[in-house]
Amino acid sequence: MEAYYRATRAEISLDALRVNLTAFRQAIPEGMLLMASVKANAYGHGAVGIAREAEAFGVDYMGVAFLDEAIQLRQAGITKPILVLGYVPAAGLAVARDYDITIALFRYDILEAAAALPENGKQLAVHIKIDSGMGRLGMLPGLEAERFIERALTVKQLRVEGLFTHYSKADELDKAYTEQQYERFNGVVDYVRNNALPISLFHAANSATGIDTPNWGHGMLRLGIGMYGLYPSAQVNQKEIALEPVMSLKTAVAMTKTAPEHWGISYGARYVTSGQERIGTLPIGYADGFSRMLSGKAEALVRGTRVPILGTICMDQCMIALDPAEQGGVQVQADEEVVIMGRQGDEVITADDIADKLGTINYEVTCMLAARVPRVFVRNGAVQSISNPLL
Ligand SMILES: Cc1ncc(COP(=O)(O)O)c(C=O)c1O
Repeated sequence: MEAYYRATRAEISLDALRVNLTAFRQAIPEGMLLMASVKANAYGHGAVGIAREAEAFGVDYMGVAFLDEAIQLRQAGITKPILVLGYVPAAGLAVARDYDITIALFRYDILEAAAALPENGKQLAVHIKIDSGMGRLGMLPGLEAERFIERALTVKQLRVEGLFTHYSKADELDKAYTEQQYERFNGVVDYVRNNALPISLFHAANSATGIDTPNWGHGMLRLGIGMYGLYPSAQVNQKEIALEPVMSLKTAVAMTKTAPEHWGISYGARYVTSGQERIGTLPIGYADGFSRMLSGKAEALVRGTRVPILGTICMDQCMIALDPAEQGGVQVQADEEVVIMGRQGDEVITADDIADKLGTINYEVTCMLAARVPRVFVRNGAVQSISNPLL
């Protein structure tokens, strides 16, 4: 539904998304396919809105974590190939085939369940997952992977389209381990090629690979965090590709007050005023994904000025200091815009700033944004569409 009635919203810049997609398209080797990783609600940005824009841009593939995420995209009208990167239980195989959804394959029992599917003239497309050193999903390189590939190729219900692996340290400065993973995966790719097996697509790249070592990506870049304008780590070569953050988290002042001296602010009165202080109440809290663990650490932007969050972040609300923003003497008014993440004037609070305060990574910061925060898709300064699952 295209409506929302709260001040808190995530603005999603479709212009920035295009800048980032274009930057990666230009940076990767000619002919390399581009997958938009829209799992986890497009890293919190809104899966359908992001997938629609990525499809219009011309990405070649969508990537999701599990089957329900893929079905959501199909039901929203996404027609590009979709790969489920994670585990699909046997109960999902027929549904995946019906929806033309490609799945990752890495277990014999699932392979045999596919072989037992009633034939209906359609094949279930699969990409076989190789564990080259991530230690997560996939067959081990060598005989284990080779036997599995050979068996999968005999199953009439399956079309083995691809083979893929995932790097665990591609975002680190030292590329020795990634090179080792690349070589292991190459061993399996060579086996397929030397035996002329009918598998055409090999892929190994994530954002970090796309930035630092695109030639180790094989045939497709599975682009996640970089598409959202964030770097996978501080160690990748950020000068290689200029990215623009796609998400800004904004709200507005719900109430202002001048609190007396020694006035407790929020649960536990962990912050107490040391004199008369101007306080602003914001309608955003930990239930929106603004973690309570940021209490006493987070900041917000008001009138282009950084102000601290005061005291404990509540479920739906939190308080900020208004005095730093009122140095000009003009009091902040109710309903004035406040930026929690993003730019206001010359100041910016990044997902990495928030991640550092939480001891996590930017990926988790955007993924944490709750469903109840409307996603407002903006192009050229104008609202393009709104996603609000509540209404
Ligand atoms: C299998 C796989 N491929 C690609 C990606 C995209 O990675 P990134 O967001 O670092 O580009 C992920 C993300 O976790 C993943 O799990």
